[in-house]
Amino acid sequence: MTGPVSPAPPLLRARGLTRRFAIPKATLFEKARTSTALEDADLDVAEGSAVGIIGESGSGKSTLVRLLLALDAPTAGSVEFDGRRVDAAAGARALHWLRRDTGMVFQDPYASLDPRMSVGRIVAEPLWALGLGGDGEPGGEGRRARVQDVLRQVGLEPEMADRFPHEFSGGQRQRIAIARAIVHRPRLLVGDEPMSALDVTVRAQILDLLADLRRRDNLTLVLVSHDIGVVQNLCDEVVVMKDGRIVEEGPTEKVLLQPQAAYTRRLLASIPVIDPGSAAS
Ligand SMILES: Nc1ncnc2c1ncn2[C@@H]1O[C@H](COP(=O)(O)OP(=O)(O)O)[C@@H](O)[C@H]1O
Ligand SMILES: [Mg+2]
Repeated sequence: MTGPVSPAPPLLRARGLTRRFAIPKATLFEKARTSTALEDADLDVAEGSAVGIIGESGSGKSTLVRLLLALDAPTAGSVEFDGRRVDAAAGARALHWLRRDTGMVFQDPYASLDPRMSVGRIVAEPLWALGLGGDGEPGGEGRRARVQDVLRQVGLEPEMADRFPHEFSGGQRQRIAIARAIVHRPRLLVGDEPMSALDVTVRAQILDLLADLRRRDNLTLVLVSHDIGVVQNLCDEVVVMKDGRIVEEGPTEKVLLQPQAAYTRRLLASIPVIDPGSAAS
């Protein structure tokens, strides 16, 4: 029997995602209270697409992306990756499959790099953890070659592999974090303001790299960004967050040029937009 072909499920699907945090009691007798960082968020991300997440500080962007990758457990709701339920409580071993297919660039490029590890070890760590050999045969040489390759891709010298995080500028550390997040060729890259510390030239280079990975490897992107230029350049869809809720979402052009929510209009007005492409003439 040939029924209607059901559309491919999104690579990433979140339903009713909610995260509350306990507020520490000021006194022993105070009633326990919670704050809601994320409330009832639904999100679908198609394979190969790029979704930008914008919103003022404290609106729940980091909370959302951490839940998407099971770096935190939701109070309610669910996340599926490639049709498979992501369960943050299952532990590291059980999430091997998710780690294999995803990479994350954290908001703070310094805190996310182990200061005692050389850059080469930091970048190679996902390959070791996942038992991947890199480009060549399984084993150290393949890994080393892959690390040098990916350092070059983010515009760093391969020789930097032997140095340590404190020897680098904020922008260089952010590039190291990006190299680490893509070294194992994930299907999904999640970045929490992954380009905030980069100067204009390097940012352009990283934008090119990500666009290239999208074209060539069908990489899916979820990017939190304050930089509307980055979102405009890279993302097909935009999600706007306020006070832990998604208040608007849609195609990038539409959301940025004809925002429906009053909040989106205010947010966009508060961010300087440098966009030679669509500047009104
Ligand atoms: N670990 C935590 N404990 C308590 N509150 C938190 C925690 N993480 C985030 N929050 C709160 O949740 C809200 C959303 O935070 P976050 O997701 O970091 O926002 P954004 O990334 O948009 O700046 C904020 O009010 C923040 O203070
Ligand atoms: Mg954040």
